[in-house]
Amino acid sequence: MSTMLEQLKAVPPDPILGILAAFAKDTNPLKIDLGIGVYRDETGQTPMLPSVIEAEKRMIARQTSKSYLGPPGVTGFNSAVSDLAFGPGNEALTSGRVRTVQTPGGTGALRVAADLIKSANPDTTVWASDPTWPNHLAIFSAAGLAQQTYPYFDKTTSSLRYEDMMDVLRQRGPGDAILFHACCHNPCGVSPDPAQWEAIADLAAKRGFLPLIDMAYQGFERGIEEDNLAVRLFAAKCPEIIVTSSCSKNFSVYRDRVGAISIVASNAAKAGDVETVVHALTRKNYSMPPAHGPAVIDILLHDEALTRMWRDEVAGMRGRINGLRASMVEKISSRNTGRDFSFLQRQSGMFSFLGLSVAEVRRLREEFSIYTVDSARVNIASFNQGNIDYFVDSLVTVLKG
Ligand code: LMR
Repeated sequence: MSTMLEQLKAVPPDPILGILAAFAKDTNPLKIDLGIGVYRDETGQTPMLPSVIEAEKRMIARQTSKSYLGPPGVTGFNSAVSDLAFGPGNEALTSGRVRTVQTPGGTGALRVAADLIKSANPDTTVWASDPTWPNHLAIFSAAGLAQQTYPYFDKTTSSLRYEDMMDVLRQRGPGDAILFHACCHNPCGVSPDPAQWEAIADLAAKRGFLPLIDMAYQGFERGIEEDNLAVRLFAAKCPEIIVTSSCSKNFSVYRDRVGAISIVASNAAKAGDVETVVHALTRKNYSMPPAHGPAVIDILLHDEALTRMWRDEVAGMRGRINGLRASMVEKISSRNTGRDFSFLQRQSGMFSFLGLSVAEVRRLREEFSIYTVDSARVNIASFNQGNIDYFVDSLVTVLKG
């Protein structure tokens, strides 16, 4: 008779987390980790933002209890994060059509969204962009939802397959949930432009599919307000939407697991009903969300001076990434590789595909200790003045065969 756990076989690590582990073991002092999507500063560190450090000090000084928070989490955080996502004064907020519930990170929000969709209609198909963050597909599959992809990224031009995407979305309707990346698409760095977002939101309203908007990089593309354009358009045009927000990147609080799910329903009473379903789902999953990170962000976003400071810090991270994109294009284009990398400057956020084959990715890893996932998605924020030339030299060597 075999025991229960004997039935389990080891599974390979998640591709992104596997790169992190392989990099940690590498002893080459020149090694570069271009894998996991965490922002890094010029010294290669993932910084703690001064605004967050100050808010955290105040939070520690003020906290009087570590008793449970209750299912919605830190309510001040929830309202502040919905103001960021929808823009303060948004009709959906003022009419009470939005309910926001704190979750353990944006990933937690996605899983709650998946469970909620499954509860509302178990036959829903979730449509994700091709490509998307691999964990998206894993999360929806774990929740038992059917999945499909819609065309999104053109590998030959490194740009959006807008018409192909619209052709597929025109066929969707009630019973379909369409996952969009609000900004800084992960993994390709390509977003619809404002006019295209408007047309997509019009189509959602006309066809009646459910927009599910994942917002993990607000402030990293064009600006904090600019980056919530998709959420504002869908909220204005569609009766129902779901937004999953992550504070990991824009507040640099990755390990504190700070996120939220916002549900927009057709009216305030229905939004209240849906919130009770969310609470029932989270109770069965992790019972109640963690307090630390959201309590810090609550303090930060309710203090004008700290909020100003944070906005400047986000602008600084965005500016550094854009500067690295420009410098990468300049450095590679002077090396006659026969390949055009100018697309790096037309894309935004931390990620872009370098357009390398798996063999080229392996050579970078094995000969130069430069780590990327097999898709050749790179985290641009991992570059700095100390490693960019080594990277470009290594890349050119690999490209020249
Ligand atoms: C990434 O895509 O690298 C990030 O979103 C981190 C993660 O959890 O995969």
